[in-house]
Amino acid sequence: MIKDFNAVHISPAAEIERLCFSDPWSEGAFADSLKSEYAHFKVWEEDKVLGYIGFYAVAGEGSITNVAVHPDARGKGIGLALVKEVIALGEKLALDYITLEVRGSNTPARTLYEKCGFRDMGTRRNFYTKPREDAVIMNYFFDKDREN
Ligand SMILES: CC(C)(COP(=O)(O)OP(=O)(O)OC[C@H]1O[C@@H](n2cnc3c(N)ncnc32)[C@H](O)[C@@H]1OP(=O)(O)O)[C@@H](O)C(=O)NCCC(=O)NCCS
Repeated sequence: MIKDFNAVHISPAAEIERLCFSDPWSEGAFADSLKSEYAHFKVWEEDKVLGYIGFYAVAGEGSITNVAVHPDARGKGIGLALVKEVIALGEKLALDYITLEVRGSNTPARTLYEKCGFRDMGTRRNFYTKPREDAVIMNYFFDKDREN
């Protein structure tokens, strides 16, 4: 189930980071992020943490910093649930849009974001290292005519 990300989740989330990324966030990076009043990080926790999402919301803009699911727990809808959770939160916070960057070659993540309604907006050249690669910028736009 989805819970707010707090200090007890830092160590397991950092472990998942190390399994997923060539340039993982450290425990200190998570701890610093959680101090921000704009941070709304979430975890998927069963008997242990299986996934998490980093999300900031400020001045009408949301940004997803990272989403990761433990390699043994993929393909079960956890990533989808986490992204949908922050979209629902963005709706509640009356955001205009949510933005993110993703490696061009990261088909699983790009497909997930597309499924959630994100659209390609452009690229940032050589945004990533280890290996060097362009980022695709993807945005999700909320309905401007909504009442909230
Ligand atoms: C991307 C990631 C978070 C997806 O998490 P997940 O829990 O396995 O995804 P879900 O089971 O919720 O899948 C939801 C949808 O995403 C897409 N998807 C997920 N894995 C996919 C894959 N390997 N190939 C293509 N599409 C995939 C599909 O559209 C899927 O819907 P479907 O099952 O109806 O086809 C996971 O693969 C991951 O942690 N990757 C490493 C970290 C990473 O790259 N994060 C993104 C950084 S920007």
